[in-house]
Amino acid sequence: MPTLKFAVLPGDYIGPEVMTEALRVFAHVAKQEGLTLDYAIADVGGAGIDNHGKALPDSTLKLCEQSDAILFGSVGGPKWEKLPPKEQPERAALLPLRKHFTLFANIRPGLLYRELADASPIKSERIPDGIDIVCIRELTGGLYFGQPKTTTTLPDGDVQSIDTMIYRKSEIERITATAIAAARARKKKLCSIDKANVLETSVLWRKTVTDYVAKNAPELELSHMYVDNAAMQLVRSPNQFDVFVTENMFGDILSDEMACVCGSLGMLSSASLGTRKNSLGLSFGLFEPAGGTAPDIAGKGIANPCAQILSVALMLRYSFGLEKVAVRIETAVKKAVTSGTRTGDIAFGGKSVGTKAMADAIIAAL
Ligand code: IPM
Ligand code: MG
Repeated sequence: MPTLKFAVLPGDYIGPEVMTEALRVFAHVAKQEGLTLDYAIADVGGAGIDNHGKALPDSTLKLCEQSDAILFGSVGGPKWEKLPPKEQPERAALLPLRKHFTLFANIRPGLLYRELADASPIKSERIPDGIDIVCIRELTGGLYFGQPKTTTTLPDGDVQSIDTMIYRKSEIERITATAIAAARARKKKLCSIDKANVLETSVLWRKTVTDYVAKNAPELELSHMYVDNAAMQLVRSPNQFDVFVTENMFGDILSDEMACVCGSLGMLSSASLGTRKNSLGLSFGLFEPAGGTAPDIAGKGIANPCAQILSVALMLRYSFGLEKVAVRIETAVKKAVTSGTRTGDIAFGGKSVGTKAMADAIIAAL
């Protein structure tokens, strides 16, 4: 019986709620497929701060080191907002985890099933077939990590903060390679998004992507777009994109926009991959919903578990090479959400069946 060894880091607020359901769905699939799940649950984020005094406890990092993949929930929230910025869950747990494992490639599928076209803020007639696009976000460079990153009081008493945007050609090339692979598996269309009319890093980005694609994937249809225009095009006509690739902050912003256009942040899963191989010789990765901890609905049992469940599918695909099982989960989610079982998401019509009932419907569809 194949054994899947992974670390489970539920995190804060709705994190543990949706994780419980994702694990229940996973256990069901595993039983059907004859897979053994070998996982341990560890604190991260606010839970790490509360229970270990640190957002990324050493024991949690050690568990991740010993695993073939990380199934991540979400971290952060009002409870820890008063801590110094550098100690807050997002900056002290999630970002260091991404950096530690060099998870530079973040893959976020933007999917809206045709049956749910009315869940999108875009007029249904503009998206008759729903939406199916992919965001490839560079995840370990740019403004989120560049040094210096400081706040200082100047001699004249004014206060100044600095974030630094740095990109190396090699960093751009490796994320371009990820984007090429994604585009090849789909419609062979790639759009690179930057701000090359203003930023030096974007000038390098555009030149590097152009040269790298010309050399390694000339069969792809490559286009470039400025990020402000891309933000507009994404709401105007999302399916003009197929795969788009962009730097860290632009990807952070555009992926939230993409999720909203696709009807719900509660449906957006993501895979973060790097160069590290796991004990199976496959990609070690971190798999997480991209929607955050949603403190406003935590504890009510209405959070949408779909993104967390779809993150399990991504983990099966990328870290365990179990494509068929991944597709089974994705198909079951699609069946469940298109057959009237919807969560409390406002975007899904406000018809609340709750977190657990949603997972039940997915299990029934498996
Ligand atoms: C995301 C999140 C994170 C990010 C936060 C929680 C640090 O918004 O994964 O998109 O900015 O990358
Ligand atoms: Mg984000």
